[in-house]
Amino acid sequence: MSNVVIVGTQWGDEGKGKVVDRLAARADLIVRFQGGNNAGHTLVVNGEQTICHLIPSGILHKGKKCLIGNGVVVDPEVLLEEIENLTDKGVTIAPANLSLSEKAHIIMPYHKAMDHAREKAKGKEKIGTTGRGIGPCYEDKAGRVGIRAVDLFDPDLLKEKIEGNLKEKNFYLTQFFNAKALDANQIFDRYCEMAKILRPFIRNTSLMVDLAAKEGKKILFEGAQGTHLDIDHGTYPFVTSSNPVAGSACAGVGVGPDKLHHVVGIVKAYTTRVGSGPFATELLDDTGDYIQEKGSEFGATTGRRRRCGWLDLVMIRDSVRLNGLTSLSITKLDVLTGLDTLKICVAYELEGKRIEATPASLKELAQCRPVFEELPGWKDEIASAKTLNQLPAETTNYLNVIEEKTGVPISILSVGPMRDQTIEIKDPFSRS
Ligand code: IMP
Repeated sequence: MSNVVIVGTQWGDEGKGKVVDRLAARADLIVRFQGGNNAGHTLVVNGEQTICHLIPSGILHKGKKCLIGNGVVVDPEVLLEEIENLTDKGVTIAPANLSLSEKAHIIMPYHKAMDHAREKAKGKEKIGTTGRGIGPCYEDKAGRVGIRAVDLFDPDLLKEKIEGNLKEKNFYLTQFFNAKALDANQIFDRYCEMAKILRPFIRNTSLMVDLAAKEGKKILFEGAQGTHLDIDHGTYPFVTSSNPVAGSACAGVGVGPDKLHHVVGIVKAYTTRVGSGPFATELLDDTGDYIQEKGSEFGATTGRRRRCGWLDLVMIRDSVRLNGLTSLSITKLDVLTGLDTLKICVAYELEGKRIEATPASLKELAQCRPVFEELPGWKDEIASAKTLNQLPAETTNYLNVIEEKTGVPISILSVGPMRDQTIEIKDPFSRS
């Protein structure tokens, strides 16, 4: 038995969905452990695109159990919409293949309203959230006023909580943000309706994972966002409200660290970021536009244009340390084809000193200048390569530099969006 955690090593959008989809074929259980529908995992199946925001990407594989752990914040409207969309595409969704933790916190309409109102009020200083109510929901969780999936079974408690919370939220919305008040009865009625449909899916998912582990099943823990959006370790305050690092899989699923065996860090071959915040290797020139267009770098959740830049190994080395990465998966390598020269940031320079890790102070980070190594690019298409030795020498060189500077071996390479455009060097589930 061996389990794998998949995490993003940058600012999200590294292409985790495709790797999860591939590894899900070998797993018995696929479990999401943090985030919410701020994530968007684009999957291409039989040439058709599917975007999952909440449901683990493994749902497309027959016979697999997909779990949404307690660390995830769940918007029931989105969950129901996803169930409906996938059902329309012929994917069977039932309690046999999808479960939601009874302890997962539920996103309420006032969370979304607060998210929007706060961002609007911040103006230029905004974080650039996805506007899905993620932050306000986690705030209520920490504030001990959140509504959990289990509360949907108890209409009296649900009503009391909605009314209690709305007293405070409506005050903020109307008096502080100059926004509209929300109606408790309307919310209650809608959530009761949704609760009826979702009830069979709501379970003690920690017990399910524990049982599966005892039976020697393979578990895939699916992270969302990326390490540098982590509320503790990311570029705070331009971060999300959860911990996308691997260790968070324990708290967000309800298992001990002994259940996490391998950690695969997904690394896009260059760097992208949506939303605000510092970005040391950002390209504000034609090369940035080239990567943005060739890589179709638009947010899967909000459709926003992603900012693009060179690969930043300072970030990746942070991610190696913060997640205990055992291997790397390099994605979207094909997007770099055609560029004459490639740059890789190997360190930062701050006030004349070379630094090897991201500073906590955003002021210092903004002053950091990337130290680049220049490497020759490649012109030949790599999208149909099936093995490492079918890659041009320059591509192999680029990959070697990544391995050498991070000290972590590459297990999987993605050279195009389709399932078969993948070169697997080592199965992350294998014990050795
Ligand atoms: P929130 O998670 O909606 O609160 O947004 C906080 C920050 O995280 C913003 O910069 C978002 O653009 C970013 N973010 C949240 N989820 C994702 C994701 O899945 N991919 C990339 N960026 C994300």
